Amino acid sequence: MPEIKVILAGVGRVGRDVTRLLSARPDYRVVAAYSRNPKLAGQDLGALAGTRASGVTVTLDREAALRQPADVLVVATTSFLKDVAGDLQLGIERGLNVITTAEEAAFPWLIDEPLANEIDRLAKARQVSVLGVGLNPGFIFDALLLTATGIAWDVATIRVRRVVDVARFSATIQRRLGIGFSREEFEAGVHSGSISGHIGFPQSFTLTAHCLGRTLDRIDKSFEPLLAEQVYTNERMTVVAGQTAGFIQRSSGLVAAQPWISAEFIAHIAPASVNLAAEDTISIEGYNSLNLTIRPGCNPQRGSAAMIANCIPRVVEARPGFLTVADLAIPFARKTSRELLKES
Ligand SMILES: NC(=O)c1ccc[n+]([C@@H]2O[C@H](COP(=O)([O-])OP(=O)(O)OC[C@H]3O[C@@H](n4cnc5c(N)ncnc54)[C@H](OP(=O)(O)O)[C@@H]3O)[C@@H](O)[C@H]2O)c1
Repeated sequence: MPEIKVILAGVGRVGRDVTRLLSARPDYRVVAAYSRNPKLAGQDLGALAGTRASGVTVTLDREAALRQPADVLVVATTSFLKDVAGDLQLGIERGLNVITTAEEAAFPWLIDEPLANEIDRLAKARQVSVLGVGLNPGFIFDALLLTATGIAWDVATIRVRRVVDVARFSATIQRRLGIGFSREEFEAGVHSGSISGHIGFPQSFTLTAHCLGRTLDRIDKSFEPLLAEQVYTNERMTVVAGQTAGFIQRSSGLVAAQPWISAEFIAHIAPASVNLAAEDTISIEGYNSLNLTIRPGCNPQRGSAAMIANCIPRVVEARPGFLTVADLAIPFARKTSRELLKES
């Protein structure tokens, strides 16, 4: 396979993990990385990622980074389509295929159809593909779920459940999820939209329904805090008793006024302390029902980085346009040097 050159937008947890994984694969090279964070400017990308020095320094100059000849741009900055749209459009204009971790981009027509269509048109005009992907949305409750329906005769209903340890998410993301607030602050944040919990169930639900020939009437949601009964401290966050250490989020996609696809998402910064274990479950009810449990649940950081890295060759070979994970050939792991994966 000819070497695939990658540019990174965003050098947070995902950007660093993708860098480390690609540095251990012979056919990939990260050739440039840009960030908005001045503290990262001038730092060696490999060193930041905890691997060998790469010779690529992080720049604040997006234009300069995008001038490097490359095949794929990976945008790992925010969750929101409108906030990544500028990077997506600039990357496409430079002739790059683009992968973004923005959850809203996993099925972008749901959130902003005109913007999704505009990006789709631009990608087709430049003959490149654009994909929103990660672990969730992107894999567990869409690529894996849809693959599991490959052995179903019919699909009457779908139930999914995920218990996630969120302690390794950045402080920014933990706060956006809803960790570390009093009950009143949590409720006010949910009301104002600054606290969103997990983003992406509507995208996974709509993609699944679309693929399986259903139209969702609506998506119902509930979101309740899990208040700490003790102090939790980790390198990113301290949560005191009475503050949110987690939450339970339930979503249900209805067809003909009945739940057709339902999700329960439980996030906590120390699941074991409340007798929970990280676990992912998919139940497909039908003539040939199927229950799938992943225990321990998929590691959010490693799983997301792997899905992005493993989708890179798929996006390069895919047809042009704004695609979903259901449009790709199955992404799978490529040859990787375990020795080079070691964190330094
Ligand atoms: N689909 C999925 O399954 C999946 C999986 C993983 C991540 N995600 C999403 O992908 C995003 C990145 O994840 P992460 O874990 O790498 O986050 P992170 O560790 O917080 O890193 C994000 C980086 O992007 C920068 N950034 C944030 N907002 C930005 C904006 N509007 N414009 C430009 N740069 C911005 C941040 O800069 P500062 O340092 O200045 O804040 C930070 O350097 C998150 O929104 C996350 O929810 C989705």
